Amino acid sequence: MNRLKCSIGSIEFNNPIFTASGTFGYGNDLPEFVDMSRLGAIVTKSITYEPRVGNPPPRVVETPSGMLNSIGLANVGIRIFIKDIIPLYENIDTKIIVNIAGSTNGEYIKVLKELESVSTDIVGYEINISCPNVEFGGMELGVDAKLSNKLITELRKHTEKLLFVKLTPNVTDITIIAKAVEDAGADAISAINTVVGMGIDIGKRKPTIYKTYAGLSGPAIKPIALAMIHKISKVVSIPIIGIGGIVNYKNVIEFLLAGATAVQIGTANFRNPNAGIVIIDELNKYLKENGISRYSELIGKLDLYE
Ligand SMILES: Cc1cc2nc3c(=O)[nH]c(=O)nc-3n(C[C@H](O)[C@H](O)[C@H](O)COP(=O)(O)O)c2cc1C
Repeated sequence: MNRLKCSIGSIEFNNPIFTASGTFGYGNDLPEFVDMSRLGAIVTKSITYEPRVGNPPPRVVETPSGMLNSIGLANVGIRIFIKDIIPLYENIDTKIIVNIAGSTNGEYIKVLKELESVSTDIVGYEINISCPNVEFGGMELGVDAKLSNKLITELRKHTEKLLFVKLTPNVTDITIIAKAVEDAGADAISAINTVVGMGIDIGKRKPTIYKTYAGLSGPAIKPIALAMIHKISKVVSIPIIGIGGIVNYKNVIEFLLAGATAVQIGTANFRNPNAGIVIIDELNKYLKENGISRYSELIGKLDLYE
């Protein structure tokens, strides 16, 4: 019996444990000891139209319970991605979701159209409207319901594949953006991207990250992510993919109870690239021991005080 079978839109995943964008590369360059076929899906790092070198170093630094990063969407660009990386997916028996970023609506659409023009096994796209580390695009979109709705409405016209939209927590009310992208035809909401933060090196009297502000991830942001997912679950009926600080199966159960249908593992992959696989085994064990035949029985089953 597969207790972890997970459906989103028309696609069935072996389990609801995915990897988070930017923390698992393109899924093609991992150590051999990681059996990627065990994962529910791999979400690639963000792809833009042109290649990007990203921001200067230092661009990643550890914090007491997570990390700050300002990678700035470094990636190979869509042409190299299609030519050199997509063919490698034939040898990977895992569902692939391509994360797309851009600085204008036109750029997102161009990247999506390029991907749609080649025959691939990619099951869907995650639209990153939430990167805090670029000067144009990304977060400007993700904080504006009208702009978000417009972009997703446009992208929806060009694909029948899954369309996830990744939201930023750096907003006053995330539910307004969530509703706007649901109305535009998104199949699921991925939440959250990193939380804007900053570190200071008192010896150097400099920020710990070259660009001063960066994105905080890891266990430090889990309470923020849980609150956002719970709030979103009250206003949308499409699935939510919970992201933020997950390091073990208990954290996954928290996200399910808060209303997530699936989760993504991010920063935890840097400590152990097998983190997702360990979590799948732990979650299965928990479900078996507690006589729960489908993980989905836990979704949204939070027992509130009032
Ligand atoms: C080093 C690093 C790079 C990231 N790059 C991307 C990216 O390219 N696109 C994106 O949508 N999110 C990116 N993220 C955000 C993660 O996918 C995830 O939303 C965030 O880290 C919160 O999850 P976590 O606490 O489990 O890491 C990145 C995160 C980190 C730590």
